[in-house]
Amino acid sequence: MGMLDGKAVMITGAASGIGRATALKAHVEGASLLLADVGDENGEALRDEIAGDGGKAAYVNCDVTDEGSVEAAVARTVTEYGRIDGAFNCAGILAAIGNVGENPLEDWKRVLEVDLVGVFLCTKHELLAMAAQGSGSILNMASAAGLIGWPGASAYVAAKHGVVGLSKSAALEYAEQGIRVNSICPSYVLTPMVEKDLFEDALGNDEELIAAARANHPIGRFAQPEEIAEAATWLLSDRASFVTGTAMSVDGGYTAP
Ligand SMILES: NC(=O)c1ccc[n+]([C@@H]2O[C@H](COP(=O)([O-])OP(=O)(O)OC[C@H]3O[C@@H](n4cnc5c(N)ncnc54)[C@H](O)[C@@H]3O)[C@@H](O)[C@H]2O)c1
Repeated sequence: MGMLDGKAVMITGAASGIGRATALKAHVEGASLLLADVGDENGEALRDEIAGDGGKAAYVNCDVTDEGSVEAAVARTVTEYGRIDGAFNCAGILAAIGNVGENPLEDWKRVLEVDLVGVFLCTKHELLAMAAQGSGSILNMASAAGLIGWPGASAYVAAKHGVVGLSKSAALEYAEQGIRVNSICPSYVLTPMVEKDLFEDALGNDEELIAAARANHPIGRFAQPEEIAEAATWLLSDRASFVTGTAMSVDGGYTAP
């Protein structure tokens, strides 16, 4: 028995990193998948990989900042599989790096638009579809940056704190309708966002800065995306049937001190 046997699950940001790792884990656990992203080439390759392994997966181009696009992705999940049992709203960007006084308004707003408004739009349309069927589990991607401050990334931190609050409010609003809403809070995970956007582009691969970031993890290393996928899959599944409104840290102790 897989944890997600018979479940239809939609994942945004599925083409890369944590979304991709969670799609592969959810497939192994028996889910039928709706993969949503703006990275069509990688998304379609993942769909083919899962289908080649005997799984069920469809891919849609979905920009989470566009309400029509999000509504269509949710509707496609329902037409494809007859229902939507789980949704992992994982799409996100890391941008507007720099102190508050140096952040151009447009860059700051773009991070909020993708990382917070995008999660709101997904949560909204998933809730509507799940309320109609009387059950469901939504998992929103927050971050350790949704629980503590992180100098140089105020837009990202503000968006991720927002995701935690949005998820708690939605959990309270929809608990009686059989829908659970949680968020997940990883620290540094070795994906293109961290290895390319942060380490390479923002930190210039400065070994000292990267070592300092690693040292902030009591467990002594960064995470692999598969380690986040384990927790995400569990939270989506019925094994987490009494878990709602939580912001789960999966961070090697990063936020424990
Ligand atoms: N990597 C980390 O250390 C880390 C830590 C905590 C939280 N997160 C969060 O996890 C999520 C996934 O990050 P990742 O590290 O796997 O990054 P990633 O860059 O590997 O993957 C992000 C995916 O989101 C997609 N995406 C970006 N904008 C989109 C949009 N407007 N609509 C639809 N899809 C879009 C990208 O195409 C990409 O496939 C993000 O929300 C990120 O903030 C990452």
